[in-house]
Amino acid sequence: MSVATARAHVNIALAKYWGKRNAALNLPAVPSLSAGIEDLWTEAEVEFGPFAQDSLEIDGAPAEPGELDRVVRFFDLLRERAGTALRGRVRSHSHFPRAAGLASSASAFAALAMAGAAALDLGYGSAQLSALARRGSGSAARSVYGGYVEIGVSDEDDLAAVRVATAAHLPLDVAIVVASDQKKSVSSRRAMTSSAQTSPYYAAWVEGAPKAVVGIREALLARDFAALAERSERNCLAMHAVTFANDPPVVFFSGLTLQVVHCVRELRAGGVPAFFTIDAGPNVVVFFEPDARDAVAGALSKLGGTLRFSKVGGEPTLQ
Ligand code: DP6
Repeated sequence: MSVATARAHVNIALAKYWGKRNAALNLPAVPSLSAGIEDLWTEAEVEFGPFAQDSLEIDGAPAEPGELDRVVRFFDLLRERAGTALRGRVRSHSHFPRAAGLASSASAFAALAMAGAAALDLGYGSAQLSALARRGSGSAARSVYGGYVEIGVSDEDDLAAVRVATAAHLPLDVAIVVASDQKKSVSSRRAMTSSAQTSPYYAAWVEGAPKAVVGIREALLARDFAALAERSERNCLAMHAVTFANDPPVVFFSGLTLQVVHCVRELRAGGVPAFFTIDAGPNVVVFFEPDARDAVAGALSKLGGTLRFSKVGGEPTLQ
């Protein structure tokens, strides 16, 4: 086979990956745990052949040079493993508005790893695909599975994510509050590097992360929604506290981000099973029990931004 197509989903971390232990191998400094999102995905068709150079087309248009560079480096790794000099041609499209700030290196590199390895007949299983995707983007290691997925820490290049529970174990719905349609001002990669180099809170974050992930995993496995909610929100705010103290400081929140944070906390205080999390941008993802849909939608729709609904899921597929 020299052409293959894969679809991988966006994942959102309940315990955040923030910081690297080894930048060359893209090994995370902390364990993390995420949930796959059913309706947000990237599909990539990868073809290897005697082309003059690697190329990347996103939603029908040639990619920006920075995006192409990252894919060329990823394909260099694939070529090394497959023992080939063939160049790759990628056509990808995403099932979410790219301009909405939901674009994800996780779904993109997971799809590229799956389709690229298949196109080059590498014969990889899920663990090898996850470790390969991690080299493209740390969070991508988790998008090789659907449902709830965890990745630990290691000094070895075979570090891969594992599935800790299917979506059916704890079926949660998701509301995504798109708080800004601007491209991120600072990439997660740059901001996490700066945290490691300049934030006085980084060491405490790295030290506390293993225990935090265990707490989140245990709450998930016990289907203890209240504990999962409190621990996930705290982990998210701790990550942002680290970046607030970067030099120069990084503030991913917008005014609307904070409005959603307060709204969700008030909802939960009033008995509505919902909690928030925020990645390296102003958008907020709200996880909630399906019965709480009306209460969550009613409260969030008063705040502004664009609301999208989905659920935890997101099994990747290879064609
Ligand atoms: C805040 O996976 O984008 O979304 O490995 O440098 O590509 P690189 O970083 P990336 O970082 C994701 C950071 C996060 C938290 C998370 O997804 O766990």
